[in-house]
Amino acid sequence: MSDASDAVAEVAVALGTRWLGRAHRHHAETGSTNDDAAAWAAAGAPHGALVTADEQHAGRGRLGRTWHSPAGSHVYASVVLRPTTADARWSALGLAVGVGLRDGLRDGALGAGVDLGLKWPNDLLVGDRKLAGILCEARWIGGAPQIVVGFGINVRRQAWPAELRARAITLEEATGAAHRPADVLVAVLEALEPVLDEFGARGFAGLRERYESACVSLGRVVRVSEADGRATEVFAAALDHDGALLVRDPGASRLRRVEAGELLMP
Ligand code: BTN
Repeated sequence: MSDASDAVAEVAVALGTRWLGRAHRHHAETGSTNDDAAAWAAAGAPHGALVTADEQHAGRGRLGRTWHSPAGSHVYASVVLRPTTADARWSALGLAVGVGLRDGLRDGALGAGVDLGLKWPNDLLVGDRKLAGILCEARWIGGAPQIVVGFGINVRRQAWPAELRARAITLEEATGAAHRPADVLVAVLEALEPVLDEFGARGFAGLRERYESACVSLGRVVRVSEADGRATEVFAAALDHDGALLVRDPGASRLRRVEAGELLMP
């Protein structure tokens, strides 16, 4: 994708969704598509509005990390969601989006046979290397919740910076085949829409089994770094109804909930 209007037209022609990505803005380069989507949302963007870019100069990940966003190689996309309810279910949105992206990458661009795992909470892995990440950001505008879900998917073979070389992977490396970022985008949006419909109607409960069956973080000892900065070794047992991780501390008999955090898997 390069010229903004060509990119929007190309996606519009290919996209078979009802509401997701029907309003679309594309930038050849930008700071962060999450910021663009938030600004558009504040100016009235509809539910499902999509912002994409060929390149980001200030792409960001979870926990204040930088999201490496070179030109023309990968998917950088953000979607505006306007929940009609303000209940706690939205805390699991990132997990639901992971289910949708995985569906799109496996059944669409990625094809069968590549083992694509979900690492709690918001990463998609091939083996132990990261293929895609999700960043959900919420704001309250005039008493109404407004959510931006951003995702980055590594598509084309990439000369990674040294610190990412062992940890990141692209679709091209995972499949041995070249893919176009625009095709990957269409595949994941089409898979994501029914998952978001399900999530909006019934919350995470209806997606929990699908997440758990693909989740590579469960049934093993992991190191979990929590919001208070504590990092502890725990057994990751299951997911709660709302997507919180249920863990067992060493020597404990009861499970404890971890609602947010970062996992290190030995
Ligand atoms: C993570 O794994 O930490 C989340 C990465 C999210 C990256 C995407 S790329 C599109 C959107 N714009 C951003 O600045 N971040 C997200």
